[in-house]
Amino acid sequence: MKKSDYYKLVAAGATTALLVGCSSLSAPFKEADARWADFKSWTKVTELEPSTGNPTGFLGGVHMGDEGYRDVYVNDIAKDTLLGSAPYNYPAGSVIVKEQFASKADWEAGRKGAHTISVKVADGDQLSKENWNWADSYKGTAGESAFCSGCHSIAAANDYVFTNGDFLKTQP
Ligand code: HEC
Repeated sequence: MKKSDYYKLVAAGATTALLVGCSSLSAPFKEADARWADFKSWTKVTELEPSTGNPTGFLGGVHMGDEGYRDVYVNDIAKDTLLGSAPYNYPAGSVIVKEQFASKADWEAGRKGAHTISVKVADGDQLSKENWNWADSYKGTAGESAFCSGCHSIAAANDYVFTNGDFLKTQP
């Protein structure tokens, strides 16, 4: 299966995502949240292949868009779930960091990376977007975000995370 087909399948059952505007969650002059401050030492899911283009077909202009180069890092709590296979249900404390660059040149130079972070704050048998918080920068504050969770609801069946073991196995 091609990557571009995978989320057509996943999204088949999903309700239409409502994007309800983007509120800024970041505040200046503070340290990064301890839950992800050291993410560079975590498992780099995209070690072999950064994500570029629009493999799911749902990117729109976010995460640096089609021209962007994106790496995904996962903490130890989330690692086994993310790299495993469906059904996906992440334990509370799971944190996933996406580091994105505007171009291949920036990615190669490690220049001007921007970060978006998903934090699972509660878990249970039922998947729910209420269980996730979102931060829009490295020094940002994790909180509810209709902007982030609205689009990630396309992957609701996979616990709101697009990048996972099944997805990574699909062919580019
Ligand atoms: C318009 C849709 C859209 C919006 C809005 C969006 N994302 Fe994503 N996000 C994606 C897609 C699609 C991927 C999957 C991989 C790719 O194409 O790079 C992704 C991947 C990610 C990942 C890597 C783990 C995963 O789910 O694959 C994180 C972390 C992430 N997004 C966080 C955020 C945060 C935080 C926000 C809000 C500030 C946000 N996203 C807003 C579409 C979106």
